[in-house]
Amino acid sequence: MTSQNQNEHAAWLQGPSVRCEVESEGSQTIWRLILLGAPGVGKGTQADLLHQKLGACHLSTGDVFRAASRQSECDLSPAMKAATEYMRRGELVPDTTVWEMVRERSACLRCGGGFILDGFPRTLPQAESLKQLMENEGLALTSVVSYDLPASAIIARLSGRRTCEQCRTVFHITDRPPKVEGVCDRCSGKLFQREDDRPESISVRLEAYDRSTAPLIEFYQKLGLLLQVEAIGGPDEICERTLASLSSRHA
Ligand code: AP5
Repeated sequence: MTSQNQNEHAAWLQGPSVRCEVESEGSQTIWRLILLGAPGVGKGTQADLLHQKLGACHLSTGDVFRAASRQSECDLSPAMKAATEYMRRGELVPDTTVWEMVRERSACLRCGGGFILDGFPRTLPQAESLKQLMENEGLALTSVVSYDLPASAIIARLSGRRTCEQCRTVFHITDRPPKVEGVCDRCSGKLFQREDDRPESISVRLEAYDRSTAPLIEFYQKLGLLLQVEAIGGPDEICERTLASLSSRHA
């Protein structure tokens, strides 16, 4: 798979009625990873880099809700319309809506190319539902990577983030700037600042992480799946650290 393909992850982003044009044929190792960490720690950036190295699809629940928020309101179900409002405020979308959306896309979890889940699960009920679904399907998670970074660095990353409106590539105005200001290096799409990167939404998101998502670290530690990786340094350095951690576990 190439990361430039516009139709990549189409079944995840647009729903089960859409087929990915580029379907993975699978490789010897099927990576089924979950990335955990506070908003802005760099999960999306790492998922993209890991996708390029390991081939597994980058599946972000936030990307699905953002794609929904760009659709016309009459095309959205009431639950999806409400989800976009929760997201705008920085609050978590209710578990039932999130799970319905993931369950509809469960073919992406069975895909022979594997997956890198970014932003899901985010609560204990979501983690339990995923565990049950995977057990029913006879699928096993490879690892859960939890990224750690001090809060001050997280806020700096979120405040400077810019995202491509077409291919969703993520930049940072000082740490990962595009070659031309406001223009995506990959597809020449326009870069925008996410609505939930405003200061008032950032604090709501960080609180939601501490309250609802941080307990997943212990959940996956107890299952023997957790790998903790420091998210300090440049994106490539962190990716190498992640790959080294994965390979020492799966050697
Ligand atoms: P989601 O899209 O999942 O957002 P998030 O978890 O808040 O994470 P972010 O995307 O903000 O950050 P990231 O860790 O991916 O960092 P990034 O790589 O972009 O969710 C959004 C919303 O959707 C939620 O608030 C909620 O409302 C809803 N939602 C989604 N899933 C849900 C669920 N399961 N349950 C309930 N609600 C759900 O990096 C950030 C910036 O830092 C970028 O500018 C990047 O270029 C820069 N950067 C990255 N790495 C580095 C580095 N090493 N050095 C310097 N800069 C870096």
